[in-house]
Amino acid sequence: MDLPAGPRGPTAWQTVAWMARPGAFLSRAHARFGDPVTIRTYWTEEPMVLFSGPDAVRDVFRLDPAIAPAGQSWEFLRPFAGPHSILLLDGEEHLHERRLMAAPFHGDRMRALAPLIAEVARAELGGWNGRVVALERMRQLTLEIILRVVFGARDEEAAQLRNAVEDTLESVRSMPRMLAMALVQRDLGPRSPWGRFRIAVERFDSLLFELLARRRAAPADDSVLAMLLGQRDQDGNPPTDQQLRDQLVALLVGGHDSSAATLAWAFERLARHPVVLARLRAGDPAYLDAVVKEVLRVRPALTIAPRLLLEPVQIAGRSLPAGVQVAACLWLALRREDLWRDASAFRPERWLQDPPQDPMSWIPFGGGVRRCAGAPFAEMQIREILRVAAQMRIRAARPGSERARRSMLVVVPDRGAEVLVG
Ligand code: HEM
Repeated sequence: MDLPAGPRGPTAWQTVAWMARPGAFLSRAHARFGDPVTIRTYWTEEPMVLFSGPDAVRDVFRLDPAIAPAGQSWEFLRPFAGPHSILLLDGEEHLHERRLMAAPFHGDRMRALAPLIAEVARAELGGWNGRVVALERMRQLTLEIILRVVFGARDEEAAQLRNAVEDTLESVRSMPRMLAMALVQRDLGPRSPWGRFRIAVERFDSLLFELLARRRAAPADDSVLAMLLGQRDQDGNPPTDQQLRDQLVALLVGGHDSSAATLAWAFERLARHPVVLARLRAGDPAYLDAVVKEVLRVRPALTIAPRLLLEPVQIAGRSLPAGVQVAACLWLALRREDLWRDASAFRPERWLQDPPQDPMSWIPFGGGVRRCAGAPFAEMQIREILRVAAQMRIRAARPGSERARRSMLVVVPDRGAEVLVG
């Protein structure tokens, strides 16, 4: 069975383009080959067929997980994510885990977390002056929010966990290092990449288990962890420490870099759109919401939602064989000129004037049974932070938009969203 056409450059070349200039690579591939397009990178062993039209995207998100699991695409995360991680599970086990984990991120429970987020945001942004690389600061801020609001960690606890998380992520943030580690998971001593990574994870785990023991002894707050501690399985049993640990790490892995990247893009875009910033300052909640949606559209943090095919399937009338990856291409779907008027423009007004009719065209959080479990929380967090940012004077540090490049799993501005404040 022939795969849809795609770039013919060597895999190494496609991998470099995919990493260094993902936006340009995807747009060029789409312009040349249309929808779908097949790419080949070292990111996955199999070729990957990208779809971006709403009907095809709907088909991808509806694929039976028994035929098209998503968990295997995250396999390289297993050493940190842990065996019970929602990211690695599929089928019934995955749905069960999802029901437990998604509960704290909805309705009143989630809204109750907003004041603490706003407080942490004010503390961070209040210190900005002069040249700021927003991506670095947003990584700090979103980590702080996860540790305080999701893990419920307090001062000294949060400081220790922060160091341990940074050590762990430091050893995986560089893509070549992460790929090398995934290939050679051998402990060649504490100074080797894998050895350093393993030690960092052990240190993080022991701090987390101590935190869990303290919270079990004295459950005292309204953090996401406090809600997760209250979970009961069908036999009425509370979660084990290992389950809780894997849930917290999934929330950290899923929520930290993705939120930081999106917020960095928000600063990069707002700094170049003073009219939007001024309108945001006026405080209309509908406009704030439109800005959040538009940032997620025009600069999605994740470019694909991949699934590995174990059996042949049909997607939008196209037959695909087993053994390939298929992906809803979030980046293309959100930026196709035939789906969005003036697609590459940052224009929050579009959400107030002509919002999209088909829900499958706005998919920054993926879709189907794997849709981002933290999406309502992510949007709320961005809203709270932008509400504070709107009161500041922010300008671009240099002319010209920043280009997109990959950092680990997400797409970030290539100069880290360099802005001038004050
Ligand atoms: C702007 C920020 C975020 C973006 C753009 C984003 C995007 C995504 C995407 C595209 C997926 C994969 C969907 C798929 O494969 O169909 C995902 C999964 C996930 N996200 Fe997010 N996410 C964000 C923030 C968060 C936050 C704040 C949390 C939690 C605190 C979170 C937790 C998760 C989890 C647990 C999954 C796995 C869901 C599953 O496998 O069932 N994400 N996210």
